Amino acid sequence: MAIDDSHSSSFFAPWPDRLRHSAIILLAAGLALCALVLLADLSLPRAVAVFICISAAALVPWRLHHVAASRDDVRAVSPVESAAVSAVVAGMPDPAVLLDRAGRVIHLNAAAAQLAPALRKNELAQFALRSPEIITALREAIATTEPRRASYLDQVPVDRWMELIITPVPVPTLFGGTEKCMLLTFHDQTPLRRVEEMRADFVANASHELRTPLAALSGFIDTLQGPAKEDAKARERFLSIMHTQATRMARLIDDLLSLSRVELSAHVRPDACVDIVPIIRQVADGLEPLARERQVAIEIDLPASATIAGDREELLRLFENLIENALKYGASGERVVVSLKEAASGDGTPELRVMVRDFGPGIAPEHLPRLTERFYRVDVGDSRAQGGTGLGLSLVKHILNRHRGRLLIESVPKNGATFTACFPQAKLSSSA
Ligand SMILES: Nc1ncnc2c1ncn2[C@@H]1O[C@H](COP(=O)(O)OP(=O)(O)OP(=O)(O)O)[C@@H](O)[C@H]1O
Ligand SMILES: [Mg+2]
Repeated sequence: MAIDDSHSSSFFAPWPDRLRHSAIILLAAGLALCALVLLADLSLPRAVAVFICISAAALVPWRLHHVAASRDDVRAVSPVESAAVSAVVAGMPDPAVLLDRAGRVIHLNAAAAQLAPALRKNELAQFALRSPEIITALREAIATTEPRRASYLDQVPVDRWMELIITPVPVPTLFGGTEKCMLLTFHDQTPLRRVEEMRADFVANASHELRTPLAALSGFIDTLQGPAKEDAKARERFLSIMHTQATRMARLIDDLLSLSRVELSAHVRPDACVDIVPIIRQVADGLEPLARERQVAIEIDLPASATIAGDREELLRLFENLIENALKYGASGERVVVSLKEAASGDGTPELRVMVRDFGPGIAPEHLPRLTERFYRVDVGDSRAQGGTGLGLSLVKHILNRHRGRLLIESVPKNGATFTACFPQAKLSSSA
């Protein structure tokens, strides 16, 4: 290895230096001895013997000191093994490992030790990093001294998509040369992949939701232009179905636009003071025909007024979605209760909580965490039959996020569901 070679050469290399440092002593001693020989005060062999003694005295202590110093240098000041490099590797936020040219670990940080507990200093990394993608990339990087990237699935303790980046770094050696070390950094790509998957799912879902009514519409247009051209009765029926499908498409587009609007303004908290009681009453009145149709009684239990910092239009949509869901999916319970109370959140912030409770079939616990995902429906067929697009609760969540609130969903299967919209109260008084 490079360090060993340089160590052996360093042992002999300083001789010329030592001679240079002792030159004046040796010169002075040489001249004095020459003078003594010339004055016949000293014989030549004695003068040579004395000169050898002086030279040894001048050189030996210096040599011992220097060897000790250079050994220290090799051990402690070898640039790649220095505390500074170790600190840089330790300070990297992602798992990082520095290898020498042979693939032996020089430094590794705590995150790397957690990722690959088998990694040990001064041992070959190939034995600890067993994934074939890593081994191949590492072998190639060492052979070519070119950067390499590899993606692999780390399955222990949980599935994680990791990306490994191998960067050759030229590190100066102690005696002026350079050595190519390999810096391995690992990046967790799982959140990025999840977002990509969600985006792909979203596009697939949106186009699927649009394609279904579109296919129905074009099918009916073909029928009306062909076989049912002269059939007035069929035309009436088909036109009514086409109207429903067109309304469904318009609603889907409307919901998608509302969602993106709310998302775009998510960072801007609404600052207008609005009384939510009349808003809830307005929504309940608007949904009265649906309630009558489903034979559900809406019971309102609200105070005279309750003010929050909010956006009126968004709050209308929020309560409309919650109450409409209770009427649509909890109709069998024949009652929907809308109430409001003050409570404290987990961190003690006072909140206004609007609860929409139904007494229908409820929701199985495995569905609860996913209800606010776009297009997620417990029973897709049932939701579609009721004109649902599966975007309602996603919109509710985004609206609440923008209002710095949160949505609580509780349900006991066969005993109804309660959707609670929580709005912070304390911040209102500061902004009001
Ligand atoms: N009160 C409820 N009781 C039982 N299930 C519910 C209730 N509220 C929502 N769900 C379930 O959650 C799913 C998602 O609701 P969401 O409001 O997001 O979509 P949707 O009602 O199907 O469509 P949209 O609101 O866009 O018309 C619904 O399809 C339904 O299965
Ligand atoms: Mg809904």
